[in-house]
Amino acid sequence: MTAEHAQDQPELWLFGYGSLIWKPPPHFDQRIPGYIKGYVRRFWQDHRGTPEAPGRVVTLIERGFWKTLGDTQNPPENDLVWGVAYHIIPEKVEEVREYLDIREINGYSIQYTPFVPAEEGIPEQTCLVYIGMPDNPQFLGALQPQVVAEKINESIGPSGENREYLLQLDEALQTLSPDSHDEHISDLARRVRSMTPPTRSTHHRRLSKTGLQRVSSTEEQEEVEKTA
Ligand code: BEZ
Repeated sequence: MTAEHAQDQPELWLFGYGSLIWKPPPHFDQRIPGYIKGYVRRFWQDHRGTPEAPGRVVTLIERGFWKTLGDTQNPPENDLVWGVAYHIIPEKVEEVREYLDIREINGYSIQYTPFVPAEEGIPEQTCLVYIGMPDNPQFLGALQPQVVAEKINESIGPSGENREYLLQLDEALQTLSPDSHDEHISDLARRVRSMTPPTRSTHHRRLSKTGLQRVSSTEEQEEVEKTA
């Protein structure tokens, strides 16, 4: 691509607040820890049977709406949601958007929001962020943490365990900044760590019951259904 054509490419900054924190998208040239404002992160989105994370996954809820939901468990001290902004190489923007749509779009809508880098002196950016809006069929509303933790502990899909998604998110959040702790996530992680993980045979039984089969990493974006 010539320098002239590279200038025509769209700019894409992508904000990750879930698995994108530790599992980056392809083709990024900058990764910046920081936060967005005005939301609350909650494990209230259903992703049953998807390879990425079956069971429960995170979504963002506008803080004003969240206040109407009567969620008294681990209320956040502020409206900051910590995560990571990725700058996508301009000539790869279309390819990455397609990758993300396949990987993540299940119930999520695209929004754009200002992003504040953790480190001073780095400019703010407008980021694309995927949000499971309250009117999407997979948004479950306010759930009790113990109920969420039990569901996460028992859920397994073709590409892995839901508990790993939670535990990796909890660990990744500790690395972003001294301020990036999210008690909703840490509380769920503590509950799940105290539970017995499902055994390998339970895993296989569940996979065959759901009609899903494990896929290789190169095929990970596809949900493969056995034709019985
Ligand atoms: C993420 O930040 O990892 C993410 C969350 C929901 C949908 C897509 C990406």
